[in-house]
Amino acid sequence: MAYKAPRGTVDILPTESGKWQELEQLLRTICANYNVKEMRTPIFEHTELFNRAVGDTTDVVSKEMYTFEDKKGRSITLRPEGTAGIVRAYVENKLYGMPEKLQKVYYMGPMFRYERPQNGRQRQFHQFGVEMLGVESPYVDVECMLMAVTVVKALGLKNIQLHINSLGDQESRDAYREALQNHFQPVLNELCHDCQVRYEKNPLRILDCKVDKNHPMMQTAPKTIDYLSDNAKAHFEKVCALLDDLEIDYVVDPNLVRGLDYYSHTVFEIISDDPKLGAGSTVGGGGRYNGLVEELGGPQTPGVGFAFGMERLMIALGDDHDDDDEGLDVYIMPLGTEAKDLAMQIMTMLRANGFTCDMDQCDRGLKGQFKSADRFHAHFSMIIGEDEVQKEVVNMKCNHTKEQVEVPLENIVEFIENHYEGDHDHE
Ligand code: HAM
Repeated sequence: MAYKAPRGTVDILPTESGKWQELEQLLRTICANYNVKEMRTPIFEHTELFNRAVGDTTDVVSKEMYTFEDKKGRSITLRPEGTAGIVRAYVENKLYGMPEKLQKVYYMGPMFRYERPQNGRQRQFHQFGVEMLGVESPYVDVECMLMAVTVVKALGLKNIQLHINSLGDQESRDAYREALQNHFQPVLNELCHDCQVRYEKNPLRILDCKVDKNHPMMQTAPKTIDYLSDNAKAHFEKVCALLDDLEIDYVVDPNLVRGLDYYSHTVFEIISDDPKLGAGSTVGGGGRYNGLVEELGGPQTPGVGFAFGMERLMIALGDDHDDDDEGLDVYIMPLGTEAKDLAMQIMTMLRANGFTCDMDQCDRGLKGQFKSADRFHAHFSMIIGEDEVQKEVVNMKCNHTKEQVEVPLENIVEFIENHYEGDHDHE
C-alpha cells in the first residue's frame, strides 16, 4: 500500500522549511518589538472548552472539529483555533493575578479544521496569534490592529485592507439579536434547517451561513453598528479616532461579524487582494472578547487578539525571498577509507568548535563532491586524499576566492578563524 498524507495536510520539506523559519523569525522579532511573550498550550483540549468558548452554533464547532474519545472515554478535540486554549491557560494559571495587569502573549502552531481543502485552506494549518488580556481600552484594540498591520507590512504584502466593525457590548448585542429575529421572522421557512436553529439560538450566525448567503434578506439585514449602546459607540469612535491619528488606513465594514461567538465590541480582518491569494482573501482576523475569561471560569477580564493563517502569509510572501540558509563553513571531501576515517575526526572537532560542517558519505569522486559543496554553499571545501593523510595535512579551498592552501591538521581551526577575520562578508 502506498501511504499518503491525510487529505488537507501538507508536508513541509527541507527545501521549504528555511522560508518557514524566516517567517517565524520575523514574527518573533515583531513580538519582541511589541513586548509580547510566547505562550504554548496543548494541541488538544477537552471538547467542552471549544463548545463553550467558540460556540456550538458556529461552523467551526458544529461542523469542523476533529473530535475523538481517548482511552478513558473523555471527549478530546484537536484545537481548531488558539484563543480558547490561551484563555483556558490564563484562567487555570491565574495569570489575571500577575503584577502586570495587561498580559500580552503570542503563539504559533498547528490548528485543525475539517474543511474542504483548497488554495490557502487546509485541514491542518498554522496560525500565528496574539492575545492581550486584562485591559478594556480602545488603545489596546488599536495596539492589536497596529501589530497585525505591522506584520503584513513587514512581509511586503500588497493590496491590503484593514476592515473593522463593532459588535458592541451585551446591551447592543441583545438589541441587535432582536432586530435580526424580527428581520428574518417572515422568511424563516425559506432558510435552511441550520439557520432555523440559529434563529432561535444565535441569529447572528445566520449572517455567515454558506447555504443561504444569496437570500435577498441577507443584503437588507440590520447592521450591528446601528444597534450600539452609548458605551459601545464611544469605544468604537475612540478606536477609529486612534487609527486616524496614527494614519492607519481602514474601512468600516458593517457586514463584518466574524465566525466565532466570543467577540464583543471591535472586530477586524486583514483582507488582501494579492493575486497569489485570490481576490478578497482574509489573511488574518480578530477582535475583542470581553466575556470569554468569565465564561471559562475566571474573573471578569477583558481581552482582545487576532490570528493570521501562516500558510496564507507564506503564499503571499511568494518565492522571491532568499530561502537559502547561510551555507556551511566547511564541506569535507575525503578520497578513500583512511581519508574518511580522518574526515570523521576533523568533522567532529570542527562541529565541537562551533563551525557548521558536513562530509561526503557516498564515496564519490571529486566532481560529485564539489557539486555538493556548491549545493550547500560551503565557504571551504576541505580535500583529503591519500597524500594528505600521509603528510598529516588537509587541502583547504576557499570557494569564494578559489585559493587552495595546504594546512597542517593542528592548524585547521586557526586557519579558518584567520580567514574569516579578513572576510567582512562572513556573518
Ligand atoms: P479565524 O478567523 O477563525 O480566527 O482564523 C484566523 C485566520 O486563520 C484566518 O484569517 C485564516 O487566515 C486562517 N485560517 C482559518 N482556517 C484556515 C484553514 N482551514 N486553512 C488555512 N488557514 C486558515 C481565529 O481563529 C481567532 N482565534 C482569531 C482571534 C484571536 N481572535 C481573537 N484572538
